Parts: sequence; structure tokens; C-alpha cells
Amino acid sequence: MTRGRLILAVESSCDETGIALVEDGRRILSNVVASQVAMHAASGGIVPEVAARAHLRWIVPVLDEAWSSAGVAWDDVAAVAVTQGPGLAGSLLVGINFAKTLAYVHRKPLVPVNHLEGHLYAAWLADETRELREPLFPLVALIVSGGHTFLVEMRDHLQYRLLGETVDDAAGEAFDKVGRLLGLPYPGGPAIMQAAAGAVRKDVVFPRAWLGDSFDFSFSGLKTAARRTIAAERGGQGTEAGEAQLTQDRVAELAHGFQESVVDVLVTKTVRAARAVGARSIVLGGGVAANRVLRDRLAEAARADGIPLVVPRPALCTDNGAMIGAAAARRFEAGARAGLDLDARPSLPLARR
Ligand code: KG4
Ligand code: ZN
Repeated sequence: MTRGRLILAVESSCDETGIALVEDGRRILSNVVASQVAMHAASGGIVPEVAARAHLRWIVPVLDEAWSSAGVAWDDVAAVAVTQGPGLAGSLLVGINFAKTLAYVHRKPLVPVNHLEGHLYAAWLADETRELREPLFPLVALIVSGGHTFLVEMRDHLQYRLLGETVDDAAGEAFDKVGRLLGLPYPGGPAIMQAAAGAVRKDVVFPRAWLGDSFDFSFSGLKTAARRTIAAERGGQGTEAGEAQLTQDRVAELAHGFQESVVDVLVTKTVRAARAVGARSIVLGGGVAANRVLRDRLAEAARADGIPLVVPRPALCTDNGAMIGAAAARRFEAGARAGLDLDARPSLPLARR
């Protein structure tokens, strides 16, 4: 059997240790993720040092599993790719040093990848669970994760023009913070989605920050509005909650109102941006893209405008190694190589306006 170009990709920027073997940036031979979610749930959020130590603990078992389930040999591997940033410094360092060592001892080129580019290129991964559809240029992509929320235009591979970004909290961060206020487990995103699905009354309305015609986003006003409402309903004053507990039904209603507000703004601005640049596809990615309501609502709005939406299945929206392998294939082709002096870049940007 002839093989395409095989890349071993390592992702460790936040709280998932991911290693994948990806062929031609499209076909996933294996994609193993060790999640620290259960561990961070105990502390209600990520403690950076704890995350880095967990990456150290899990990276070798994750490689072993990715390796054995792919059934390939080092001779088949063209390059080793790794997330350089953005992310937590300690977490990034574990993956970078691991990938450097693999590249050195197996004499393979090392390809640095921007984590956000990984979220974008997840849209090019082949997926049996949906119709195979490659994004078409020009496209508009909405990337919504725990640390980032932005809209970019792509006229070709690896070319980005920033159309808008959050001026305060990322969408995922807002989900996580409001989830905590509602007494839901960490991470707030999936917990709010689940709670909201159980809402019987759907009349809670939270504000939307439209920011005029801009493609920027803001979620801090929404977060404060949610904080005040929750505080008042718990018998408190201002933003200080009282002793009263919310019923499960009320938590569901508030979660629903919050999710509607976030989804409404994300969908409206994305479709407006797609129209403005004459996009032939819309791409959705990042951890918040695992949200069913956001996926359905954007699909519906894109369909109404006759623009196909490409969104990876939820497991490829949250952090994983395969998305890094997908982006690395393009970077490798474009000649990107790193030396053994490759360093973590916790604030690595993707694009400028
Ligand atoms: O992309 P990701 O896995 O990590 C970062 O690069 O940040 O995104 C994690 C974020 C978290 O804020 C989490 O609450 C959110 O994605 N998230 C969701 C859902 N699943 C994960 N938000 C809303 N609905 C979901 N189903
Ligand atoms: Zn991410």
C-alpha cells in the first residue's frame, strides 16, 4: 500500500494531552487525547502547574497508544509537528520538548504549529460521520475556544485576515464563568448546554453586545448581567449572591437565556461577515463549536444564505492532536521547519487586521 505524507502531531497547549498520526493532513490514523477535565473539575478550573505535571505524566502513554493503534513504523513518518503557542507556558514546554526529542532521535524534521491554525484546519480532516466537504475559498472562519474568539477571512491556505475578535472575555471563558455562578461543574460550556436543554420556560433574556457594525465581540457585559440576575435571585445585593439556592429548573432557564445570547451574537456576526467578504464557505472551530445549539443555529443561518458550513465533529473541535497534524501538513508543504531551539510562545498570534 502506498502511503501519503504521514505526520506525528503533538498538542499540549492547555489541559488535553493529544497525539495523532495524520496522513496528508486529511486522514486520521490515530488520535489519542488524555483529558485533565476530571482533575481540574475538583479545583473548579485549571491550575497551570498541575496541568503541566499531568502532561508530563501522560505524554508517553498517549504516544504509546497513538502509535500502536495507527500500526505504522517510524520509517513511514515524514515529520513531527507540535503546538508552539498560544497556550500555557508550562504545558506547551512539555509537548515541545517531547516533540523535539522524537524529531532528534528519529531524524525527522520538526514543524511548529499555531494552536489556532490547528482549530481552523480541523475543518479539512476527513470525517465519515458527515458528508465529505472541503471548505472553499474565500471563507470566513469563526474560532471560539476557552482562550480565543475571533473571525478570520481566508482567501487561500495559510493566509488570514482578522475581521474581528473579542475585546474582553472569550466565549468559552464566559461559558465557564457563568457555569460556575450557576453552580454547575467545570467546564461550564458542556454543563450549560446540558442544563439549557432542560429549560421548560424560555423567557429569560440577557443583553447582546452588538458593538455597532464591528465584527468584534464582547461578553463581559453579558457575564455581569448574568452575575447580577443570579445574585438577586439568590437573595443577594449587586453582584454578591445571597444564601438562597436556585432550583434546578431556574438554573436551566438561566443557562438557556445565557446560551441564547452568546449563540445569537456569534451566528449573526459570522453570517454578516461571510456576506461582506463574499465567502463560499463558513468554517466553525474551537471548543465552543462542540455546542449543539451553536452548530445547529449557524448551519441553519448559513443554509438560508446559501453558504455551506463546515464544522468538525465535536471531538475534533475541542483540543486534540489531529487538528495540529492537519495544519502541520500545510506548514510542512510551505517549508516550515524548526530547530532544536524551538521555544514556547504563550501569546503567539494568528493574524492581523
Ligand atoms: O478549544 P478548547 O478545547 O481549548 C482552548 O483552546 O481553549 O476550548 C475549551 C472551551 C472551554 O471554555 C469549554 O467550556 C468550551 O470550550 N466548550 C463548550 C462546549 N464544549 C467545550 N462550550 C459550549 N458548549 C459546549 N458543548
Ligand atoms: Zn484550543
